[in-house]
Parts: sequence; C-alpha cells; structure tokens
Amino acid sequence: MTREIIIAPSILAADFARLGEEIAAIDAAGADWIHCDVMDGHFVPNISYGADIIKAIRPLTARIFDVHLMIAPADPYLEAFAKAGADVITVHAEAGVHLDRSLQAIRALGKKAGVSLCPATPEAVIEYVLDRVDVVLVMTVNPGFGGQSFLESQLGKIGRIKTMIGDRPIRLEVDGGITRDNAAAVAAAGADTLVAGSAVFRGKSSADYAANIAAIRVAAEAGRVPKLQDVSGRPTRFGEAALIR
Ligand code: DX5
Ligand code: ZN
Repeated sequence: MTREIIIAPSILAADFARLGEEIAAIDAAGADWIHCDVMDGHFVPNISYGADIIKAIRPLTARIFDVHLMIAPADPYLEAFAKAGADVITVHAEAGVHLDRSLQAIRALGKKAGVSLCPATPEAVIEYVLDRVDVVLVMTVNPGFGGQSFLESQLGKIGRIKTMIGDRPIRLEVDGGITRDNAAAVAAAGADTLVAGSAVFRGKSSADYAANIAAIRVAAEAGRVPKLQDVSGRPTRFGEAALIR
C-alpha cells in the first residue's frame, strides 16, 4: 500500500527559549506531525523533556503529536503522556521485556501505538506484535541526540519491515539524520513518515522551515518514482495518476 508522505519535525532542534513560537512556526510551515523526543538519561544518554512540556504546547497546534519515548521503563508513564495530549505514543522494543503489553496499554488509552527499533536491533522483534501497532519507527541514528549522521545500514531493515507490514495500515517512520539528501533513499526503501530535526529547524523563520519541509517532502516523493509506472509500464517521474497502490 502506498501512503502519502508525512513530515514530522522533531522539536528537539527547536529554540527551547521560544518553544511556543517555534511550534506555531512549524505548524504554519506545513509540518504534518509534531515529533516529541522524550529522553530519560537512562535508556539514552541524554535528558530532554517530559509530559508537562507536551501538555503546555498541546493547545498551540492541532497537528498530530507523535511522542517518541526513549525511556525505560515506559509503562508507568504511558497514561501521563496520553493525558498530556499525545496522539501517537511510541515505545522502544529494547526498553522493556513486555512489548506486547506496552502496545496493548497504549491502545487501551485510546492512542495510536508505535514501536521503535535502535540501529542494532533486528526487525524480527516486531514479528509477533505487528497486529498491535500503528507505527513502526526505525532509528537511523543511535537515539539520544539530534544532529547525528544517518546510518546507511538501516536501509535494508526499512525494506524488510516494509515487506513484513504488507497491507496492514501501519506507518513506517524513520528518525535520525534525515535530510533532503537521503529522503529519497529512505522513501525508496519503504518509509512513508520522515522525522527531521536539524534539517527542518535550519534558518530562523517559518518561511525557512517551510522551504526545508518542502525540500524533504519533494525528495521523498521523488524517491518513490521507481514504484511509479505510466500506462505503458515504463517508469515515469511524476506519474501520480498511475501510482501503484
Ligand atoms: C534522536 C531523536 C530524533 C532526533 C532527530 O534520539 O529521536 O528525533 O531529534 O534529529 P535530527 O534530525 O537532527 O537527527
Ligand atoms: Zn525521535
């Protein structure tokens, strides 16, 4: 199934002193989802922010809040993030023993459930929970910091997870080091939801952010071109009408 590309700016790269204005700016700039990176200094070697910050910014935009929990344990905090206004709550497969239970708990809170995999984690860990997830998040850097370099090693994993997903209504998200230069490659591999922090919050104005988001979106859509054919079966560049769904 081909799904429209979603761009999810990570506010980890925003100016925290002007966080409210930054949310308004990426909303106006065409962000589809707002990606919120929660780090605990235990599961990952950095501390970011928690549910109170998410609650404070929630009224500033109607966009989907995509909350990426890099915390262990995650289960005791799921309700707090649900109440704070998360729409998607993603836990790491490596963060607890009972992934199936965590995913059930997120859905029981009425939220979309996501599972994330660190770069060294093989895709087999999600084989038996695929019917419990709405989002699979492939980390394309080691989680903990923004501004790291994209790991090419993850392209094969993205492709294999795309095949595992099949026709299920699951979004395949990538996070870490995503730029306009590698967006085509991740989309060609099967990603349909792209997180980007430093590549979006470059420049100062909403217009800069809009140009950055648009460049990533255009590159990702172009990356899908090999999967497009015109009526003669030849690949086309922008053959939307002939998109294979
Ligand atoms: C990394 C976070 C990412 C990060 C992305 O641990 O999960 O969301 O903020 O930032 P960039 O796009 O700068 O790699
Ligand atoms: Zn993230």
